[in-house]
Amino acid sequence: MDNILKYLCGILFYLLFDEKCDIFENKTPIIIIGAGSAGISAATRLLENGIDDFLILEAESQIGGRIRSVEFGDGYVDLGAASCHGQKGNIVWEKLVQMNLTNLLRHTKVPNNFFLSSGKNVSEDVSNEVVHAMLEMLHYKRGSRNESMGLTYGKMYNDSITEKFGNDREKLEVAQSALHWLAHIVMCMEGTISWYDSRSKTSYQVCEGHQELIWKGAGYGIFLDILMGKYPDQRVQLPIDEKILLNKEVTKVSWSPTATKKRVEISCLDGSIYIARHVIFTPSLGVLKERAEDLFVPRLPENKMAAIENIGMGATMKVYLQYPSRWWRDEVSFNFVWGEDDKRDAMNVFPGQPSPIGESWITRLYSVEMLKENPRVLLVWITGDIVDVLETIDDDILLSGIEFTMNKFLGHIYDIPKPEKILRSTWYSNPNFRGTYSYQTLNTTDHIITDLMEPLRSSDGSPVIQFAGEATSPQHFSTVHGAIESGYREADRLIEMYTQ
Ligand SMILES: Cc1cc2nc3c(=O)[nH]c(=O)nc-3n(C[C@H](O)[C@H](O)[C@H](O)COP(=O)(O)OP(=O)(O)OC[C@H]3O[C@@H](n4cnc5c(N)ncnc54)[C@H](O)[C@@H]3O)c2cc1C
Ligand SMILES: *[C@@H]1O[C@H](CO)[C@@H](O)[C@H](O)[C@H]1NC(C)=O
Ligand SMILES: *[C@@H]1O[C@H](CO)[C@@H](O)[C@H](O)[C@H]1NC(C)=O
Ligand SMILES: *[C@@H]1O[C@H](CO)[C@@H](O)[C@H](O)[C@H]1NC(C)=O
Ligand SMILES: *[C@@H]1O[C@H](CO)[C@@H](O)[C@H](O)[C@H]1NC(C)=O
Ligand SMILES: *[C@@H]1O[C@H](CO)[C@@H](O)[C@H](O)[C@H]1NC(C)=O
Repeated sequence: MDNILKYLCGILFYLLFDEKCDIFENKTPIIIIGAGSAGISAATRLLENGIDDFLILEAESQIGGRIRSVEFGDGYVDLGAASCHGQKGNIVWEKLVQMNLTNLLRHTKVPNNFFLSSGKNVSEDVSNEVVHAMLEMLHYKRGSRNESMGLTYGKMYNDSITEKFGNDREKLEVAQSALHWLAHIVMCMEGTISWYDSRSKTSYQVCEGHQELIWKGAGYGIFLDILMGKYPDQRVQLPIDEKILLNKEVTKVSWSPTATKKRVEISCLDGSIYIARHVIFTPSLGVLKERAEDLFVPRLPENKMAAIENIGMGATMKVYLQYPSRWWRDEVSFNFVWGEDDKRDAMNVFPGQPSPIGESWITRLYSVEMLKENPRVLLVWITGDIVDVLETIDDDILLSGIEFTMNKFLGHIYDIPKPEKILRSTWYSNPNFRGTYSYQTLNTTDHIITDLMEPLRSSDGSPVIQFAGEATSPQHFSTVHGAIESGYREADRLIEMYTQ
């Protein structure tokens, strides 16, 4: 858009925003709530289209939301999103292609090292079977809309291993135990606490290409810099920093659907009040589940409340360990297959608390990943019904369970040193997130995401409170690219309205 048009846009906003005698000073036509992927992408889209009359209110003391790359070990680690899932039709990948920056990513190898709690090795054909089942789930979600992932893939896997290993009792037993590992991979992918919670066939559309493209150096955070024009050439950055207000937790969003003048009042925890014509609301589905009832005046319409209830939001957890030096060989991951007896026994051999689930929490430890660019750091994945508790226990207890488990599976091969530093994610305990990413439950119907994303409109039909964020993306929910698409979508709604 040329400069004259930009100038006219500015005037238009000024004229439309005609409550000059208002007692509040904090007036701006547009307020974006949340400076995560969706909020930042909406903001950059507005700026690129000559609209700069907006503010972003962010509750945390930093931007990025569920993208959080922090210095650890000899580089960066991602406490939140780490990989770009897919290429074709993935807005993240396509932006990199357009900017000739695809070399910032590399694809990861699939897991290949399986270890048994008994210390025995998992035979190659059993590992291949497990990996095959995992890839099947990653790439081609099958099943029916009324069936859970656990049922569809449990059946598929059970049938397959009975056919292949039916005559080999030992292999069959190991393959049966590996179902536990598969379930945890699915729970991690879906961010659920049980693989019976998520639906096997959903509206998610896989972007073709590599599914696990990892940021080589700086973590996913570099992509936000790319969006904001700070990377690779800082001189072309968009004037966005000055529009972001940190530590601004929004506690109320009030408006009047029937009033002729569009006017939303946004109250913050620190007592400040902002007035806007349009709000783009981006906090997570977890925040909506906990706070929607209090946040919005008047109460959100029934279909939106139903969507908030029936779309799922669970959590998975990452723990990073830094060692004095690398003690493993060139593995890409260690994958733990808990034998049935050892799983039952874990409570006795590792009496470490807590264990509110009836089984020891260490059985929820199923995978340890190496980071190629950060050679003395390991990533431990924990998932399932214990994440909420483990996010808040003492470092010492968490570490002792991890060390116990690693020794149990790897002790016969490696002499494992003590880690010197630990860092964990706390997405579920943090009230600004309350979980990791959304998923579709058996109660999620086809139109439900549309219900969640539809703006609340004034009597003349124009959007007043708009919803963006990962969970509002019908085809790419649970991802960064979905969040970014949703931010663009809502910014475009305003751009269209004001530039036509
Ligand atoms: C552990 C983990 C691993 C992941 N892995 C991947 C991955 O590998 N690949 C991938 O594509 N995606 C991944 N994701 C998902 C991805 O991170 C999210 O889908 C995406 O970042 C969500 O962006 P968003 O803008 O929708 O929400 P958010 O990033 O949650 O942004 C919303 C913002 O709103 C703020 N906020 C909340 N409440 C308030 C309030 N009351 N007032 C003001 N501000 C508020 C929050 O602080 C936050 O900054 C992962 C997520 C997690 C947690
Ligand atoms: C793209 O980047 C590579 C290096 O990563 C460089 O060799 C190549 O010339 C670049 N191409 C263009 C069109 O800029
Ligand atoms: C089991 O695997 C380890 C590490 O991969 C290897 O060193 C060992 O020789 C294997 N043992 C058997 C019996 O195959
Ligand atoms: C799911 O729906 C199919 C028909 O579409 C039906 O045959 C099947 O019994 C249903 N399963 C469950 C678990 O309800
Ligand atoms: C698959 O087999 C296991 C026993 O190995 C059983 O617990 C599980 O329920 C089976 N899953 C399905 C979906 O049949
Ligand atoms: C689906 O809805 C029913 C009835 O409201 C509820 O009991 C059940 O727990 C829900 N299931 C899921 C997976 O959310």
